[in-house]
Amino acid sequence: MNLPGNEVEQARALLGKARFVGVLTGAGVSAESGVPTFRGKDGLWKQYRAEELATPEAFARDPSLVWEWYQWRRNLIRDKEPNPAHFALVRLEEALLERGGDFGLITQNVDGLHEKAGSRRVIPIHGNIWEVRCADPSCGWKEVDRGDLDPLPKCPRCGGPARPGVVWFGEALPEDALEEVDRVLRGCDLFLVAGTSGVVQPAASFAWAARRRGAWVIEVNLEPTPLTEAAHLAFHGPAGEILPLLV
Ligand code: OAD
Repeated sequence: MNLPGNEVEQARALLGKARFVGVLTGAGVSAESGVPTFRGKDGLWKQYRAEELATPEAFARDPSLVWEWYQWRRNLIRDKEPNPAHFALVRLEEALLERGGDFGLITQNVDGLHEKAGSRRVIPIHGNIWEVRCADPSCGWKEVDRGDLDPLPKCPRCGGPARPGVVWFGEALPEDALEEVDRVLRGCDLFLVAGTSGVVQPAASFAWAARRRGAWVIEVNLEPTPLTEAAHLAFHGPAGEILPLLV
């Protein structure tokens, strides 16, 4: 990790005087907790990519395969703990709220580690891997269950198939989450993007939207991404080391 000192100072100064900080996180922020990311060499599960499993079509075709993937991920994540990147974002939120500012943490992660670390204003745009819900939206049953599930869970209300409470490719983001995202993107004067490859929409457009509205944009990632171009300052290294350094 080779961080230019003056840029660290610039980022600290921007974070220190910001009134409203918006954050977007991706799988890279949980990587140092031991949660695998989706892309890159360790991103495959068996021979599948996330885009082949996280879709309504995959679930309709082979619900057992899709559930097997989610249960593998649930088992892997269940005992994982937040890392210094998560805790740095908790401190950032506390500092903003203490000085009468505002904060919103948009996350694509479904692992719940931001909440576990103590972040309060979390906007989980891709849902929650611990939620199980009826696959039939007109039934509407759902619950949070962190335990071991049947291999092919059923809805206890209508008897139909149950599905993970996450957002799949091709599905709309939850309405309430989108409203909160809008509030953050309109209001923030600094937008921090950490640990996302920046290739999945709509999240990939948030940094650009914030920048167009006049916000400073800072990126933290192991490597350059398509969002690096949107960033005024970009830091390349582990989020668990860089975020604590900046906050
Ligand atoms: P990806 O797996 O696409 O990208 C992870 C990013 O984190 C990469 O750019 C890595 O370089 C970076 N990274 C890895 N370890 C890091 C570390 N220790 N510190 C900093 N950066 C690190 O994950 P996402 O961008 O979150 O959606 O993927 C977006 C969405 O695609 C996911 O929410 C999921 C997936 O398919 C759905 O399932 C709908």
